[in-house]
Amino acid sequence: MQVVICKDSNTAAALAAKILADRIQANPKIVLGLATGRTMERVYENLRQFPLKFADVSTFNLDEYIGIKRSDARSYWHYMHAHLFDHVDIKDENIHVLDGMAPDIWEAAAAYEDEIEVLGGIDLQLLGIGRDGHIGFNEPLSSFGSRTRTVYLTQTTREQNAPMFGGDFNQVPECAVTMGVGTILEARELMLLATGVEKAEILAQAIEGPITSMISATAIQLHPDCRVVTDVAAASALRHKDCYRRSIAGDIEFSEYKSMRA
Ligand code: GLP
Repeated sequence: MQVVICKDSNTAAALAAKILADRIQANPKIVLGLATGRTMERVYENLRQFPLKFADVSTFNLDEYIGIKRSDARSYWHYMHAHLFDHVDIKDENIHVLDGMAPDIWEAAAAYEDEIEVLGGIDLQLLGIGRDGHIGFNEPLSSFGSRTRTVYLTQTTREQNAPMFGGDFNQVPECAVTMGVGTILEARELMLLATGVEKAEILAQAIEGPITSMISATAIQLHPDCRVVTDVAAASALRHKDCYRRSIAGDIEFSEYKSMRA
């Protein structure tokens, strides 16, 4: 694992976008796994600034709420179009977001796995982290072998995401559909982005803590090519900073991260 500590959240988002842009440039037919959440908004904002061709890029989003229509501004379908897809030349048929209104959600989940396989697997999976350590919507106790499926959201998650639902956690759906931890671990490369002091404790557990299905993000420790991009605030609870290859207080020298492998 590589841990890159940036001076602030803007720099971390810019670096994550730069890595994504580099991967797209190197492989115009890349299959990207994409994430949502407030942390990612600035990543997509930065990514849109690069003169990139998305015509042959395929994407798979991590998760979606159950019972929310795609046309609803609170759906992740809507989020992805507003923050990225409407701004780039990606083809509709190359966009894959789970449908929380699918008539048979279990069938849709299985079909999602098949679609990922048909496209040869995910090259780079972008990840955020929930306050309870979820990746995607893999709440505590998600098996590390879990596949795309329906899940119940924890109270912590519903409270975390309440701002998008008028501040009332009761309005946040109780269920979601998410790629599994096992699905995520099969991506060829992982990049987890976490910023802000409210992520500090859970990020330290994800990176340094014992591997446990109670914190899905600890699964990233098992991945052979995983990079964590963070800022000084979110890195503040890490105890072994001297172990990391990069602990940056100043500006990122973008050219240098490429030579460092996990
Ligand atoms: C949601 C998403 C997760 C994401 C999390 C982080 O819960 N389902 O995939 O990791 O948001 O949210 P934020 O960036 O707003 O802290």
